[in-house]
Amino acid sequence: MMTEEILVPRGGGAGSPSRVIIGDALPRLGELLQRKRPVVITDPNLAEAYPELTGRYPRVVIGLGETQKTLETVGYIYRELLRLGVDRGSYLVGIGGGIVTDITGFVASTYMRGVSGFGFVATSLLAQVDASVGGKNGVNLDGYKNIVGVFNQPDFVLCDLPMLGTLPVRELRAGLAEVIKCGLIRDAGLFGMFENHTFESFTGDAALVHRAVAASVEMKAAVVAADETEQGERKLLNLGHTFAHAIEKCTGRYLHGEAVGIGLCIAARLSHKLGLLTASDMERIVAVVGAMDLPTSVARDTGVTRAQLLAAVASDKKREAAEIDFVLMEGIGHAVRRRMPLVELDTLTAEIL
Ligand SMILES: NC(=O)c1ccc[n+]([C@@H]2O[C@H](COP(=O)([O-])OP(=O)(O)OC[C@H]3O[C@@H](n4cnc5c(N)ncnc54)[C@H](O)[C@@H]3O)[C@@H](O)[C@H]2O)c1
Ligand SMILES: [Zn+2]
Repeated sequence: MMTEEILVPRGGGAGSPSRVIIGDALPRLGELLQRKRPVVITDPNLAEAYPELTGRYPRVVIGLGETQKTLETVGYIYRELLRLGVDRGSYLVGIGGGIVTDITGFVASTYMRGVSGFGFVATSLLAQVDASVGGKNGVNLDGYKNIVGVFNQPDFVLCDLPMLGTLPVRELRAGLAEVIKCGLIRDAGLFGMFENHTFESFTGDAALVHRAVAASVEMKAAVVAADETEQGERKLLNLGHTFAHAIEKCTGRYLHGEAVGIGLCIAARLSHKLGLLTASDMERIVAVVGAMDLPTSVARDTGVTRAQLLAAVASDKKREAAEIDFVLMEGIGHAVRRRMPLVELDTLTAEIL
């Protein structure tokens, strides 16, 4: 298997770009950590599946799941680092999915005002194509997602595709929603890779998965390069996420990526309703999400109402006054931002949700 490298420029005087290495990437770890004093942060699943990798250096193991993405966990890691005698000259390596990488980046940026550097081995598809790339790190507080954090890009991200082999299938599928999202935002060719595929035929084709991961990282890298600290353009990456976050909050049933699948379909339906997207493109989007065995609407038996979803949207941290920033599509591969009054969203979603 080949590897390829995508460079993401870093602002803030960081000098060299962040390196994202995709493919048979894990063998590169040793060379990237040469002359460094690494400490690993990981979770129990990775510690169990990859004992040699995660046990190669001193390590801190955190708990599993979104409920662990808190300041309490950050405090636990700081104390463990102190106990291990970790100083500013040390180097942190997050090995895991988006939970591990989001927390590791935050700890690396704040412990002793920032350690000498940090990198990631991104092990879930979602982390490879989204969470680990671009330098947003942080934790949740009181039900608000990612409300505390920093912008700080890792020195490197290894997207090792063979490691996806141990990822639970449901997690793999959830990660695909973010890949579809990348295509819808800026890369119609990436979206097209999914058409005429089922989940099995897509994920069974290693070369195709490789191309899709690389294209997703390219897309994200370009957006981050244009707007590292999310003044404007980077908000496009929230396509499908306004409703995804609301759906996650209201149902407690869906994985993030599954909720993104639904959110993408809602964004497509809204875009069509506003006359930005043709009916046939809307149908293509819903068909691709469905063909990857992802949900395309909120299941009836969740009992969640439209009013509840809209209330959750209104209480999202991204809300500014009575309007929200919403991402729509003017065709596949062309996401656009729109300020939308919440009352308009209410009217528009009447037949959609
Ligand atoms: N910083 C960003 O820009 C950004 C972007 C998108 C998402 N995120 C964050 O990412 C988080 C979700 O990430 P996630 O979906 O990777 O969740 P996760 O880290 O919980 O990983 C999913 C599950 O898969 C397991 N796993 C991961 N890789 C594995 C492997 N190779 N083999 C076996 N098991 C493996 C994990 O232990 C976990 O149980 C959310 O908190 C979200 O907010 C951040
Ligand atoms: Zn997401």
